[in-house]
This record gives sequence, structure tokens and C-alpha cells, in this order.
Amino acid sequence: MAYFYPVIKKETIDRINDTARIDEVVGDFVRLKKRGVNLIGLCPFHNEKTPSFNVSVPRGIYKCFGCGKGGNAVSFVMEHEKFTYREALLYLANKYNIEVEETERTNEEILEDNRRESLYIINAFAQNYFSEQLLNSEEGNNIGLSYFEERGLRRETIETFKLGYCPSDGDSFTQSAHQAGYQNELLQHLGLTTAYGKDFFRGRVMFTIQSVSGKILGFGGRTLSADKKQPKYINSPETDIYFKSKIVYGIYQARKAIAQHDVCFLVEGYMDVISLHQGGIENVVASSGTALTQDQVRLIKRYTQNLIILYDGDAAGVKAALRGLDIALEEGMNVKVVLLPAEDDPDTLVQKLGGDGFNKYVEAQKKDLIHLKTDLFLEEAKGDPVKVAGIIKDIVASIAKIPDAITRSLYVKQTAKMLEVEEQILITETNKLLRKEATKKVTPEDKATVEALDYTPPAKEQPLFTFHLDTPQERDIVRLLLENSNYEIEGENAIARILRNLSDVEIDHPEYNMIIEEYRNAFAQNEFLTQAHFFNHPDEAIRNLTIDLLQSPYELSDNWTKMHDVPITDKQFLVRKDIVKSISLLKLKKIIRMKQDVDNRIKELQHDTSENGIQETMLCQKESIQLQQFIRKLSTDTGTVVLPGIL
Ligand code: CTP
Ligand code: MN
Repeated sequence: MAYFYPVIKKETIDRINDTARIDEVVGDFVRLKKRGVNLIGLCPFHNEKTPSFNVSVPRGIYKCFGCGKGGNAVSFVMEHEKFTYREALLYLANKYNIEVEETERTNEEILEDNRRESLYIINAFAQNYFSEQLLNSEEGNNIGLSYFEERGLRRETIETFKLGYCPSDGDSFTQSAHQAGYQNELLQHLGLTTAYGKDFFRGRVMFTIQSVSGKILGFGGRTLSADKKQPKYINSPETDIYFKSKIVYGIYQARKAIAQHDVCFLVEGYMDVISLHQGGIENVVASSGTALTQDQVRLIKRYTQNLIILYDGDAAGVKAALRGLDIALEEGMNVKVVLLPAEDDPDTLVQKLGGDGFNKYVEAQKKDLIHLKTDLFLEEAKGDPVKVAGIIKDIVASIAKIPDAITRSLYVKQTAKMLEVEEQILITETNKLLRKEATKKVTPEDKATVEALDYTPPAKEQPLFTFHLDTPQERDIVRLLLENSNYEIEGENAIARILRNLSDVEIDHPEYNMIIEEYRNAFAQNEFLTQAHFFNHPDEAIRNLTIDLLQSPYELSDNWTKMHDVPITDKQFLVRKDIVKSISLLKLKKIIRMKQDVDNRIKELQHDTSENGIQETMLCQKESIQLQQFIRKLSTDTGTVVLPGIL
């Protein structure tokens, strides 16, 4: 069964939102002064000397005019404390003494939930036990604590990272856990107790693996014996609460510093994280011996876009660093790599250089993908054109993984310069790879959809017709929804009317789409959503968007007036006279854009004589003709003249 996540009841959420006062919530973290009707202070989310962080008590929202961050009480604690939505609600409920009610669950769900809760409790018990042993038992002191001290760790660091020691006698932890009433089945599931009833980690110093919010997910245990047959580290298995590919070691201790410095260091080992932290470099996490995953990168990306990978310079380290580099690039991060000399790891280096020295070293040594790959491979390839070509291909493959076109083109320019190849060749090569990726994603079903095309634009991933609507136009529609919940047109509720007319239009923009979807779902259940619903939305992007939308003056995009044969002067025109027409125009515009894209694609494919190219051209031509027919029909329906400049 999929793991269960308890849901706080809507009534509780409403009560929290009604009770929490934005000035009090923000006031716990920021000094606010009165300025007119608002309060103002120094923004906690970016560095500033003059205050541009505004709090409006009557509206219950904050907005920074420096960095643009804005939201309500819930989003403030989410952003500031790096809480999840649920954590933020619980925090506020606690602050205001509000009783939290959760949705009713099936017995199965309750059992599952209780089991997970028990697993967390047992892990917390184990952590506490291991710490106690380290600090307060003779064996723990003599063996564990003296080991950590020998490695230069201070008491405070040992506590921050909840380091511990598991006794060597065989089963004293398991015995204590049984005495405390914990079930053997759960102890075994967590990997704390072996199938033979022994302590899995016996005789090892313990590292505690924590979630973003500090929960204990699992452990790593390091042997102190020099016996080469013993694995240096053993780790908790994957459990119902520990998913190794989704967590990085140290994130709980690092998250604030990562956001603050807007960069995250990624290292290999537990000790590296701990040593750097002690050396004053707190924005550091470890992949803990496993290859970096997409989920781990996304976790880090919650706090920063910038990653510096610090791995070993040996063959295995280089390989891991290159893989990590590609994964982070694919997620759109800015990533640099530092390869350390064989005799050092971040732990020993920071002990040698100190925090400042370490930072200087990284600054001097960090390399982006091109410099890294040329440095790594060019020396050995010198004079061998085939090998050089291989390196160029390798670099191009990495560049093609970068989602942002501008970043890609900057990398292409730099590569061209460094490797003395023509930029155009690199562009052509990159595009080839991009196209290959794109065609991989077209399924037979997609092709069938293209053939049976109606107003609904093709699925998002489909490369033949990717196009973007001008945001302002979607903004107009969403604003119509938000501002007109009580408005009636010819006896029909304005929202109902808008939704009815939007039913066959697909909106590309994810947030606008989500808002419209929510209106749709609510409407289907005969509920009408208020603006406050979106102000208090669990999704930060939606909250910000609604706040922005309703705080900025209404303006129609240029395209509206261009597309329309009558100049539109104010929103009343749209609301009263012609919601239907406004949506038809949206459709019309989408189809025009689709046709433009298809026609561009046909042009691009002109010289492509490969089988794929020819097939794609044929599909495109067919598509273009169909779209032309729709455009004609829609312009007649709406009485719109499509200007030649647009098509
Ligand atoms: N690791 C592991 N199992 C092993 C070896 C390593 O899980 N048998 C993981 C651990 O998370 C470890 C990381 O890989 O922290 C890096 O390994 P290594 O560099 O060998 O360990 P260090 O953390 O540097 O430990 P130490 O400095 O104590 O040797
Ligand atoms: Mn080490």
C-alpha cells in the first residue's frame, strides 16, 4: 500500500487561516515598524539595508518589493522555516492553540499511519540510546567518544549531528528496545535488529540520518576495527520511512545555510559533512556513497539553484562527479565540480586549511562542465583528432541536457572558443541530440491524436507542436474567474459561463491551469471558490500568482487589441459583453500559434532527407492544412479578421 499522509481537515485549516495574524507570525522573525497602513521591515529572504518587506494586516499578506516574495501567514513560515505545508499549519495551530482535526481514514489507513508513526518513534528511541551510550557509558566513552575526539570533533558538533555508539556485546540495544515495549518485527524492519535478535550495528559509531524536518529516518554505522574484511560502513536498509534515493545526509542541519548562501556543497561522506559544518561551512550535504539521484537534486533545489560537487579525484570519484553533474544540469541547476587531490577529502582539507582557506580553495578550483571535461580529457587526447572529437561529443551530450536554451547557447559559445571548433557545428550537433530526445517521446497514440485533431492542443511533451501562449492572455481569463464569482450574465453565473466556454481549451501554463482546474472541480460539486481560497492555497506558486494578479492593475495584453477588431478599453467590456468571445479568441490565438510552430518546423525540416525527417514533414504538412481550416472557421465565428502580420 502506498504510504499514507494524514490530511488536516478543511475546517481546521480555515480556523488557522482566520486566526493567524500576519503581523504576529512575521513578527516572531522580523522586526516590523509601522508605515502608513502597512508594516515594514528588513526582508528575511534576501540581503537588504533599507526595508522593502511590507506586511498588510487587513489583507493578511506580506510582500517584498525587493525580491518579490509574497504570501500569507502559512507561506511565510513555510518559506522562512523551510516547512512543508502541513508542518506550517501545525506550527501555526500550536502557536494559536488550535486543535488540529484530521480527515477520517479507513482502518487500513489508520493502521498504516500508526505503523509509520511507530517506526519514527523506535528510530528516535534508538538514536537516543546510541547517544546515551556514546556520552554516558564506559565503553561508549572509551571507544566511540575518543574516536570522534581523535578526529577533531567538538562536543557541540557531536550533538548537532546526533552521533552515537552501539555497544559491542551483541544485543544490549535490542534488549532495551524490547524492555521499552517495541515490537521485534518493527525493530527488524528498521534494520536495527538482525534476524537472529542481535544488534545490527554492534561495536560501531553511529551516524543519524534525518529528514528535512529532523525526523530520524535511519542510521549509518562505522566500524572502528582495522579488519579489512569488515565493511567500513553499514547502513539502515530502505524501510517504510526511509527512501535512500530521496534524501541527502545533513539536509536538516544544512537547509537554512543553503538558502542563506544560495549554494549547496555536495560531498561523499558523513564525516565530510560533519567536518565542514564544524569548520563553519554549514551549507553541505552528502550523497552518502550512493550515486546522486534526480530526487536528491530536487530536494536540494528547494533551497538553491547552485550546486558545487566536491568529490574525490580518483577514477571512481570522477565518474560519480560526472554523473552527478549531468543529473544536476538536467534539473536546470548551475553546477560546478571540484575534484580533490588523492590524499585529501573535504574532511581532511578543511581541517588543514580552515573554513576560509577551504572556501578560497573551492573558489579557485571549481570548474564548470566544459572546463572540467577539457581538463580531464584533453591532455591525453592531444594530437589525436578522433579522441578530441569524442570529447566534443561528450561535452555536447551534457549541454543538450540543460533545459534552458539561453544557458545552452552560452555553453556552446564557450566550448567553441575553448576547443577551437566552429560554433555552428556545435549548435547543429546539440540540436540533433535534442531532436533525437524529442522524437523518442512521440508515441503512436500521440500520432493518432494528431490525426484526429480537434480544438484540444496536443499533449505537453509532444515536440511537434510545443508552443507557449502569451501569459497575459491566460492571466486575463484567470482574473475573470477570480473577480467575478458573484457576477451574472443572462441568468448564468459568470464563472459557470467561463468554465463552460473553456471546456475544450487546454491551458499550458501550469499555475493558471491549476487554478482553472480547481474552479472546474469545485463547480462540478456545486461549490464556488473565493479569492481567499487562492490566497491561502497550499501551493506557493498559486498563492503568489493570485496575490500578484489581484494586486497589479488590470491591463490587457497588446495582443488582445491586435487580435480584436474593436479596441478593448476595460475589463467590463470583457465581462459584460463577451466572455464567450474572449475565450474563442483565446482558442483562435492558440491555433494560430500552433500553425506558426508547425510551419516553422516544416521550414526547419526542409533539408532533412532522413526517413524520420520526411515522415515528420508529412505529418506537419497535414497538420498545417487542418489548422488553417480551423482558423478560418473560428475567425468567421468570432467575426475576427486575422491580420496577415499575425499569421
Ligand atoms: N559508504 C558506505 N559503505 C561503505 C563505504 C562508504 O555506505 N562500505 C558511504 C558512507 O556514507 C561514507 C561515504 O560512502 O560516508 C564515503 O565513503 P568514505 O570516503 O570511505 O568514508 P568517509 O565518510 O570519508 O569516512 P572516514 O573519513 O571515516 O573514512
Ligand atoms: Mn574521510
